[in-house]
Order: sequence, then structure tokens, then C-alpha cells
Amino acid sequence: MVDSINIQVEQSPDSRLSQVDFNNLKFGQILSDHMLVASYDKGSWQSVRILPYGNLPLSPATSALHYGQAIFEGIKAYKFEDDRVSIFRPDKNYERFNKSAVRLEMPEVPEEIFIDGLAKLIDLDRNWVPSTPGASLYIRPFMFGTEAALGVHPSASYQFIIITSPVGAYYNKPLRVKVEIEYTRAAEGGVGFSKNAGNYALSLYPTRIAQQEGYDQLIWTDAKEHKYVEEAGTANLVFKVGDTLITPSAETILHGVTRRSIIELARHWGYKAEERKVTVQELLEGIENGTVTEAFAAGTAATLTPISVIGFDGKDYTLPDPDNREFSNRVLAYLSDLRYGRIEDPFGWNYVIG
Ligand SMILES: Cc1ncc(COP(=O)(O)O)c(C=O)c1O
Repeated sequence: MVDSINIQVEQSPDSRLSQVDFNNLKFGQILSDHMLVASYDKGSWQSVRILPYGNLPLSPATSALHYGQAIFEGIKAYKFEDDRVSIFRPDKNYERFNKSAVRLEMPEVPEEIFIDGLAKLIDLDRNWVPSTPGASLYIRPFMFGTEAALGVHPSASYQFIIITSPVGAYYNKPLRVKVEIEYTRAAEGGVGFSKNAGNYALSLYPTRIAQQEGYDQLIWTDAKEHKYVEEAGTANLVFKVGDTLITPSAETILHGVTRRSIIELARHWGYKAEERKVTVQELLEGIENGTVTEAFAAGTAATLTPISVIGFDGKDYTLPDPDNREFSNRVLAYLSDLRYGRIEDPFGWNYVIG
């Protein structure tokens, strides 16, 4: 498959690997030796190359900088104890990437470039996949409009690029989150389900305000009534209410690979799991009367991060101690064992590149 689109490789003359402190990885600060760059022009993909990581020459008129045709994905690769490298469910990110592309009026990326290119890049930079506990290689595929012209229209040309970064934990403590009822992330008919750059730009100001109020993150609510819980800033939400796992459903949220895996696991283990609308009121009442026993953020970067406090309208609602959360701790341990190849993979979620 890799060879149906020819991927040329130019190896970096000197590796930066020896400068990396794998015991002290901050999220996203260090970029690996190589990147994959594919160019789209005149209606087709023109060239696919793996190059030494480096800067891009860009025209100031580059259309993505003005009109925002920019989408991305976040995936992780893990190092097994036997040194093999495995990528977690990249097929799901591939599907989501092309959904984002269609909504943003951008070309879809062929599987031979996205999946096979990814595997080839990670194989070349396999020594960048950390073997330190809890660490992984974060993979960032992205695409943006490159046409050097002003005027609102779909860009005539694009670049699809994959860069990677060895990372430790994104969050290193349970989260205090604020239910956001003034600002809106996404409205029905908009682009909330897509992973486009603008969704993150608009989150920065409300997130800073929440942080100034002593919270780590936001919980977004629906645009119309601010009545339904949607998702967190960089992750989906899952709650355990009684004996049931519940995750908010809405066309406006990003449909995460992590929460999907967790819901599939929960059902496999015999838990009841529901994807449905969740009201803020139901959630807060459930915390107060003790039926909501667990809450966590689920995402590729966040993995599974417990939520300790939910703030609403100036009042904090405290959840039970994260150490005693039966489902969260079980799922976190299981997913970690599976991703690092310590147990069988009954679902076929690991894409092992050898
Ligand atoms: C806004 C948002 N929601 C949810 C998620 C979770 O998606 P996934 O589990 O596919 O990483 C992410 C990304 O990590 C995100 O940025």
C-alpha cells in the first residue's frame, strides 16, 4: 500500500535525540527529527516526502492564515516492552480527519498518505517513541490551505503534514472545571464536530477567564440555552451516575476516539453505557445527592483525567476522591496495559508497526 503513492525519504544528517530528557517531557515542546509533507494542487496529491523537521516557506497571503482552512488530529504511539511500536486506533482519526476536511471544503487525504505515511514516519523516528512510564509519542497530522491569494474562496492548494513530539502527561492532577454559560464553543449546523483550528482559538479567552477564577478547564454547554453539558476544552466528558456510564451526545461536540473506546470497554465489561443529552442541573444535583460518583475528561492528550470539582455560577461541587473511583481507575489501568502491549488486544485497537 505504501508504494502505490511513492513516499520519498530524505533522512536528517544529524539527530537531536541525544538532547532529549525523556524523564522530563513537557507536552508538545520537543519535535522529532522528521516530518511528512504532502502537497495538493490542481485537484490531486502531487508529492509525499519525509523530510528533516524544519520551517516551512510561507507567503504572507497563505489563505489559511486569513480564512482559517486548517484542520488537525491528535494520535499517540506507544513503545511495547519488546521494543515494538504501536499506534492507537489511527483509523478512527483518519475517518475524523476527512470528515473535518469535507466540512471545511478541503480535499480528503488518501489512506496511503495518512495511514501508510504515518507508519513510515513513525518507523523512521521509532527511537523518539519514549519508553519511560506514562510517556508516548504524540502525533499531529494537520492540513491547511496554502494558496497565496486574498479573497474568500476555498484554497486551490493544500499541504498535509505530520509532525511528532515525545510527551508526558498533559494534565498531572485532577481537574477543577467550570461550567461555561456565557461563551459558546459551537452551535448546531456549525463546525463543532470537526477538529479545525478555529475551535481552539475561540476557546482561549473564556478558558483564561476560568483559569483566573481558579479552574483548570471549561465544560462547554449548548449554544441555545446553556442547559446541556457538551465537552471540556480538550477532551470529552464521561460521568458515572449510579451504575451507568453517561457521555453527552450532540452534533456540536468532537466525537473522541478515547471516549468511544471507553464506552465500548464499559459495555464489554457489562456496564450500562449511554450516549445522551445531560443537563447541567442533572449533573449538579447528582453530585449533591451522591449519585454522580465519577467524572472524567477523556482524550488522546488528556488520556483519562479525573474531575475533582465542577464549578457553576460561583459555587463549587466536589466529587468523591479520585483514588476511590472504581470504573475510572479500572479503565485507565486497562487502557494503559493495552496501549503498552502488556495484555492481549481483543478489540484490534493497536496498529502495531513492528
Ligand atoms: C475539543 C476536544 N474534544 C474531545 C477530544 C477528545 O478526542 P480524542 O479522544 O479523539 O482525542 C479532543 C482531543 O483530544 C478535543 O480537542
